[in-house]
Amino acid sequence: MKKYVIQGGKPLTGEVSISGAKNAVVAILTAAVLAESPCVIENIPAISDVKYIAKILESLGALVEEVEPSVLRIDPTNVHSMVVAPEHASRLRASYYFLGALLAKFGKAQVPLPGGCDFGVRPIDLHLKGFESLGASYRLERGVVHLSSEELSGDHIYFDKVTVGATINVMLAAVKAKGLTVIENAAKEPHIVDLANFLNSMGANIMGAGTDIIKIKGVDHLYGTEYSIIPDQIEAGTFMAMAAATHGDVLVKNVIPKHMEPISSKLRRMGVEVTEYDDSIRVRYCGVLKATDVTTRPHPGFPTDMQPQIAAVLCLADGISIVREGVWDSRFKYIDELRRMGADVSVNERVAVIKGIDHFVGAPVRAVDLRAGAAVVIAALAAEGVSEIENVRYIERGYERIVQKLRNLGADIECVTVEEEALV
Ligand code: UD1
Repeated sequence: MKKYVIQGGKPLTGEVSISGAKNAVVAILTAAVLAESPCVIENIPAISDVKYIAKILESLGALVEEVEPSVLRIDPTNVHSMVVAPEHASRLRASYYFLGALLAKFGKAQVPLPGGCDFGVRPIDLHLKGFESLGASYRLERGVVHLSSEELSGDHIYFDKVTVGATINVMLAAVKAKGLTVIENAAKEPHIVDLANFLNSMGANIMGAGTDIIKIKGVDHLYGTEYSIIPDQIEAGTFMAMAAATHGDVLVKNVIPKHMEPISSKLRRMGVEVTEYDDSIRVRYCGVLKATDVTTRPHPGFPTDMQPQIAAVLCLADGISIVREGVWDSRFKYIDELRRMGADVSVNERVAVIKGIDHFVGAPVRAVDLRAGAAVVIAALAAEGVSEIENVRYIERGYERIVQKLRNLGADIECVTVEEEALV
């Protein structure tokens, strides 16, 4: 088992380059099964979620080849299976995108209910309703979703809730359906736009991605393409938060500053200097951090996937901050870990009240999920003393070479392998 050992208190300084977006790449790699010839996809982050999606693609019959670092060639011409194995599906949430993609390709699919981070209840009712609207029927048998359809036809679909996953799944299913599909109250996250751009470059006809109405005219054929994944908004936001928490000065490179606006504006309100350039952002600590309130919302609101990281920074701000979780039922489990490091936070259901402290104190802690793991890394980097972080496999699901990137910025962080018995 690996753990990170961090000696805190070193301001992060220098430059860091952001990798391809996790939530875009998992959808785009899955969508590649729909092509009739190979796709070459660039700016692929080296994270474990990519390995799991690649394993599923290979298990279905696709050839996945790393042609150079961060570039994958996917040849789906021999994809023959529409069955995803439980041991693959349980690894990550995005495995359920194979429902939409395989339904579009074969008219049927068998995909086990997905794994992924535990934020409380994570239903997939809206995905299933979307597939039904397109003419598919489904049944759930021993934890596996079975989808089948004679012919998929476009329909008008209104989502009661804004959902990234169901928007993506319906886009994938509708891309080859007969006629026009209209998704209303669609999610607008940058990775929705990236997936639409990828599918359009394969020959799809998708309009309106990035607004709350997406229109998809079905096409008969989709072809291989060359495409580059957008930078990861959340990885960039995490390094921005790290710079602020450690009193640092970091140039975060290879970002789309527009995607960062909700995060940049909160940091500015906390008194941090944030300067935007064409494809980079400089974040500089300039004296006492100020308390502020944050409510997470679907894009373009403040992203829920940055909630733990901003909360870690707010622990170090002067005054009382209130963080409201507007997307998930249960996303404050990591607060106990921050408390071990001295945080003064009370949580009531979806609201955390944070009283600023002078500094964190290093402690043994664990990553309870991916972004929660990032939050404890932030606290550890800013802390007085040494922290040891367990369960780093969660962190490595979504952060490429995080230890190396942090060392390049001057952090004192080491990844060590420990015997599991030693931790009991
Ligand atoms: C995706 C992201 C995740 C992020 C989340 C919100 C990926 C792989 N994961 O998750 O990191 O935290 O968006 O930005 O991209 N809901 C329903 N019924 C459904 C589907 C969703 O009620 O059928 C609800 C959920 O319980 C939640 C809300 O809708 O309260 C948003 O969920 P959704 O946007 O679908 O999240 P994911 O796609 O699972």
